[in-house]
Order: sequence, then structure tokens, then C-alpha cells
Amino acid sequence: MNNSICKYYNPVEIIFGPSSRAKVKEYIVSKNYKIISSRRGSEILLKDILLGGFIKGDNIINCVNGYPDIASIENIISNLINESIDLIIAFGGGSVIDTAKIISICLPLRNKGISLSDVLKDNNKCSRTSPIDLITIPTTFGTGSEVTPFSTVWDFSKKKKFSISNPSLYSKVSIIDPELGIGTPIRIIETTGLDAVNQAAESLWNKNANPFSMQYSLTSLQLGLQSLPNLVSSPDDLDLWMQMAQCSLFSGLAISQTRTALCHSISYALTSYFGIPHGIACAFTMPSVLRYCLESDDGRFIRLADTLKLSSPYKDELINKFISLNEKIDVENIVKGYIPNFESLINLSSQMIHPGRADNLIREVREEDIKTILRQSYS
Ligand SMILES: [Fe+2]
Repeated sequence: MNNSICKYYNPVEIIFGPSSRAKVKEYIVSKNYKIISSRRGSEILLKDILLGGFIKGDNIINCVNGYPDIASIENIISNLINESIDLIIAFGGGSVIDTAKIISICLPLRNKGISLSDVLKDNNKCSRTSPIDLITIPTTFGTGSEVTPFSTVWDFSKKKKFSISNPSLYSKVSIIDPELGIGTPIRIIETTGLDAVNQAAESLWNKNANPFSMQYSLTSLQLGLQSLPNLVSSPDDLDLWMQMAQCSLFSGLAISQTRTALCHSISYALTSYFGIPHGIACAFTMPSVLRYCLESDDGRFIRLADTLKLSSPYKDELINKFISLNEKIDVENIVKGYIPNFESLINLSSQMIHPGRADNLIREVREEDIKTILRQSYS
């Protein structure tokens, strides 16, 4: 995009492919390990043809059943504080992985008198210790958390969302097995798949984008825009899961360098005030944010149109592509099901500009712009 110096750093060892989850056995031999999971994740794990007979049920903590919140993570840390653990395995979706990432760093920090609240106030405190080795095995394909140095924590009582960002939060190994997608409920396929596509888009229209991140986001968008609409109709198709798992992985690798941008910034209020699922909340404004960014195209959207093999006029074609994805999943009506009326939505506009997200967008955004984006997205 320009001649400036750029860098790429991601230390996660990635193992990808059907049945690759069996590889975890090689890492847990003679280790004192704990598996962080959800109820659904632990059921899948214990019945799994490749892992079920190998995993000890006592080693599974299956209490991550919603978005990670401060109190529940502190509780898990307190329960583990007297155990000697040398490996943590996250087996589940983005919430499970985010929780496991925080535990892998906050458990050793607790022994030094540093709490999760201390870390939330100052992310640099993560560097005061070495994290416990972490292996992430995603069972849904959306957040890309398995390859990012970020973790999200919520305080729903205060309607607040916190982010932790530190290189200590990178997994040591991520095992991405597309077979684990088969059996995912349709609504989870929709919201996680939309998150993956949206994150790739947010990385592309991001002022931190560089040639490395951009290649990942372009490929991710190509895979996601093609596979996600088909996957919701054919959720047992392994070839589609291969594409969706790659879409999510590449999206994660892209945002690991750039972070996300305006759709995520807007989405946090939609999730904390109305309970709208994360991926749906992000996708809701995606066509309008694209329209907003296209007015400042420096060539990156022409590349996207080329990658997607769209014809001219490319701006309209691109917007239509994202609108049709949202229509396929009925995003607008799902959102309207959570929101009492348009007024309640527009009243939150002042809370939708998060520093570190909204200001990553390639165009500057004011509250008036957010209102326009919300208006376009709602009608
Ligand atoms: Fe996201």
C-alpha cells in the first residue's frame, strides 16, 4: 500500500487438517494438564472417537458456558491455585479459548499477588511471569482467538467489555481440526462464521493493515464469502468446514497484526445492552461500514474485488456481496428481534466509539457518522 516498513510476528505453532486433534495426545503425555471447556465441548470431547478414551474426565473444567466474565474467571483461578499445572488445553469456542488464555497467564500471576483486575488495569503486568503452556483446539470457527494475543472479558453488571492485549496471550500450539465443526448448531455456525468474515473485513479496512495482514484478510474473505452461505445450508459438508476453518484461521492471523475496527467498536454496545450474539452484532453494520470506507479506497478494495472476481462497478458489487451474505443469514431481522426500537439503538451511538477499535478504521469516524451507519443498517 505504501513504502513504509512493516512487520509480521506470530509465534503460534499451527497444526491444521482433518483428524489433527489426535495430535494433542503427543503433547499431554506425562503432563499435569487441565482442559478448559464448556458443557457442550466436554460432551464432544468425552465422546470423541479419537480423544474420548484418552482424556481423563477429572481434568476437564467445563464451566465456560457464555461470554467470559471477570467473576467466573477469578473463580476458576481460585480453584486451581493449589494445583501444579504445566499444560492448559482450551477445547471449545472463542469464549473458552479467551478464558483459557487468561488463566494461563493469571494463574502464575496470582502467585505473585497480581489479580485479573490488576491485569485489566495494566496489560503490561502480563509480562511479570511466564504463562503456562497453552494448546488451543477450536470447536467453532470464528474468533481466531487461537492465533491472536488478545482476550476479551465482560462485566455484564456494568455493561462493560475489557480487552487484554499482550504477547503472553499467544497459544503455544493451535490445533485446528475442521471435523470438529460438524454438528455445530446452525445459529452458532452463523454467528461465528459472520465473526470470521467480519474480522477479515475489519483487518482489511484497517489503518494498521500491511501486505502480510492484507493477504490473509483477502484470502479469508474469499473463503468465507463463498463457504459460509453454503455451510448454513449444508452443515455436514467437510469440504465447506475446511474452507470455513481456513477463513477463520486467516482472519485471526490478519487481526493478530491489525486488531479489529468500527464494526466491532459498534458491536460491543449491541452485545452488552441487548444481548445480540457477537458475530451477528458485528455483521449488522458491515455493509454500511464498507460503503463508508469505499469512499476512501486507496486500492485495497479494488484488490478485494479482483480477488472475488467481481465486475464493475466494483463498489456496488462489493456492497451487494456483503448485503447478500447478511440477507442469507437474516442478520437485520435477528438484530431487530433483540432491539425494542430504533430510538434505543441510536441512543447508544455515543458509546460505540471505542479507542483502539473505531480509530483503526481507514477513515475518521464521528458520532454523526455512527448514526448514519446505524440508520442505513437498520432500514
Ligand atoms: Fe470478533
